[in-house]
Amino acid sequence: MHKLVVLTGAGISAESGIKTFRDMGGLWEEYDIMEVATPQGWEKNPKLVQDFYNARRRQLLECKPNKAHLGLVELEKYFDVEIITQNVDDLHERAGSKNVLHIHGELRKAQSTKYPELVYDIEGWEIKDDDRCEKGFPLRPHVVWFGEAVPAMEPAIEITSAADIFVVIGTSLNVYPAASLLDHVPENTPVYIIDPNDVTCYGLCEIEIIKEKAGKGVEILIEKLTSKTSNFKG
Ligand code: APR
Repeated sequence: MHKLVVLTGAGISAESGIKTFRDMGGLWEEYDIMEVATPQGWEKNPKLVQDFYNARRRQLLECKPNKAHLGLVELEKYFDVEIITQNVDDLHERAGSKNVLHIHGELRKAQSTKYPELVYDIEGWEIKDDDRCEKGFPLRPHVVWFGEAVPAMEPAIEITSAADIFVVIGTSLNVYPAASLLDHVPENTPVYIIDPNDVTCYGLCEIEIIKEKAGKGVEILIEKLTSKTSNFKG
C-alpha cells in the first residue's frame, strides 16, 4: 500500500465547532498567546493558563469528529495513512484513525510540572489546583507551548520522509518547526493542500490546492485518489 501522510491543523476541526487560532474570530484574537501558551505565562499566572485549557477541554468533550476526520479513516481502506497533527484535540482518534502523531501535545492529558515524562489521562475536563503527579508535583496541560521543544518532530520527519503522497489540511503553516515538515517531503511526491483560504507554501513543485473546507475537501481528495485514473489506486 502507498503511504499517505496527512499534516492537519486547527482547520480540520473547525466544522466540529472548535475555533482555529489565526482566522478572524480565532482564539489568538481573544487571548494573548504570551499569557496562555508560553512557559513564561504559566510562571506568571498558572491559574489563568489552567482555566484556559480547562475551558478548551470542557468544550472538546461536547464536540464530535466531522466528515473530514471520518474521510481520513475511510482512506485507510486504500492507503497506509499516517496522520501528523498539530491539534491537541482527540477527534482523529475518536473518528477511528489508527496512526496519529500529536506534535503539539494532547489536551486530554496532563503532565508533571517537574517530570514532563510523567503523563496522565485526564478524567473529565479539569486539571484541578491540587492535582499532583506521583512524585508530588503539580500537573499542567500536556501541550507544547511556544518556546518549548517539540520532541515529536523527529518521528514526524521520519514519517514525512517516507510519504508517497502528502496532504495538508487546515493549517496556516505559520508555526515552526511543524511547518518545516514540508521540507522533508520526498522530491516528486504529490502534495495536496485543503484549505478554504490561501495558504503560502513555497518551494513545492507538484502541489494541488483544493480550496474548500475540510469536509468537502477530503471528499474531493478521496475521489481523486481512488478514481480509476489515479496513479495510486490499489
Ligand atoms: N476547513 C479547512 N481549513 C480551514 C477551515 C475549514 N473549515 N477553517 C479555517 N481553515 C484554515 C484557515 O484558512 C487556516 O489556514 O485553517 C487554518 C488555521 O490556521 P491556524 O489558526 O494558524 O491553525 P494552525 O495552523 O493549526 O496553528 C498551528 O499554532 O497556536 C498554535 O499550537 C497551536 O497547533 C497550533 C499552531
